[in-house]
Amino acid sequence: MKSILVTGGAGYIGSHVVQQLRGRGERVVVLDNLYSGFADAVRDAELVVGNVGDQVLVSRVLAEHRVDAVMHFAAHTVVPESVRDPLKYYGNNTCNTRNLLACCAEAGVDKIIFSSTAAVYGALAGGIADEDTATQPINPYGMSKLMSETMLRDLSAASALRHVILRYFNVAGCDPQGRIGQRTPNATLLLKVACEHAVGKRPSLSIFGTDYDTPDGTGIRDYIHVEDLAAAHLQALDHLRANGESLTLNGGYGHGYSVREVIDTVRRVSGRSLNVIEQPRREGDPPMLIARADRLRQRLGWTPRHDDLEFIVRTALAWERRLAAAEHPP
Ligand code: UD1
Repeated sequence: MKSILVTGGAGYIGSHVVQQLRGRGERVVVLDNLYSGFADAVRDAELVVGNVGDQVLVSRVLAEHRVDAVMHFAAHTVVPESVRDPLKYYGNNTCNTRNLLACCAEAGVDKIIFSSTAAVYGALAGGIADEDTATQPINPYGMSKLMSETMLRDLSAASALRHVILRYFNVAGCDPQGRIGQRTPNATLLLKVACEHAVGKRPSLSIFGTDYDTPDGTGIRDYIHVEDLAAAHLQALDHLRANGESLTLNGGYGHGYSVREVIDTVRRVSGRSLNVIEQPRREGDPPMLIARADRLRQRLGWTPRHDDLEFIVRTALAWERRLAAAEHPP
């Protein structure tokens, strides 16, 4: 039986995909350097600890596990850090993707699913992006991913390779059964930070910008439950296995919530009064970023199951409580 190589499969989104792949009986090998991932998050899949930039290792894994499809999640993802240290992002995200593609080409792997980001669109004038919207990243993180997309397209045009690129919007929530979740230390993402505050890990919660041209003055994002996004990866794999053509697809629900709506939901679900501090805008934040997400539905037959902010918050909060209990046992 052939295997699927999942790079970054010990991380937040990768581990949810691995769990769904294993759930339907796929053979999976994870390659992760555990920089921001956790070995136990891969659960019953095989884990190889190492770097995507290590050509000898990657080629060996592809051959030994008879890999015929790759899902490539391994990357750094912190936008402000990418501004401070761009080469870290171009090295780990772009150069290492080039390396992975070279190994895949050599081994004859002809199906790749790639984790890209809404950050490729940059500061959108209208706040809503379809896949043909011009890509103009405003930070090295977004650019590092766009460069990888370009390599994938060029290589696909020149070889038998076919790919699905998924451009993630704001991924949130966790496995509803609480087996895995988001463990990123020093998180900056709104929903994670809000849940950490609700369980007492942080003394307060900031709203970055209350003077945007939006109905309540705060930023609007398209929050997608990680389980729905993970399901899209499995459908992308099925599409490529059925000889489907290469695709670039937005991963979002097609509507958004403001920062205040997210915080109100965390307050309601947690039953806690939150200490919210209104701050100036955070540099580089667009006012609104929403996916036009019809193509994902049409091309892959994807139907979201958890398009519900309250459900997203409930699963994220349950996971945060579990983490807090593990760190401070009674
Ligand atoms: C960004 C990237 C996204 C990337 C993600 C993870 C862009 C446009 N998007 O998402 O591609 O995958 O980071 O690194 O670059 N906010 C607060 N208080 C907080 C935290 C956030 O008010 O403590 C606000 C932000 O100003 C924003 C919204 O909440 O309006 C969402 O922010 P965040 O969760 O950090 O994600 P993005 O910046 O949208």
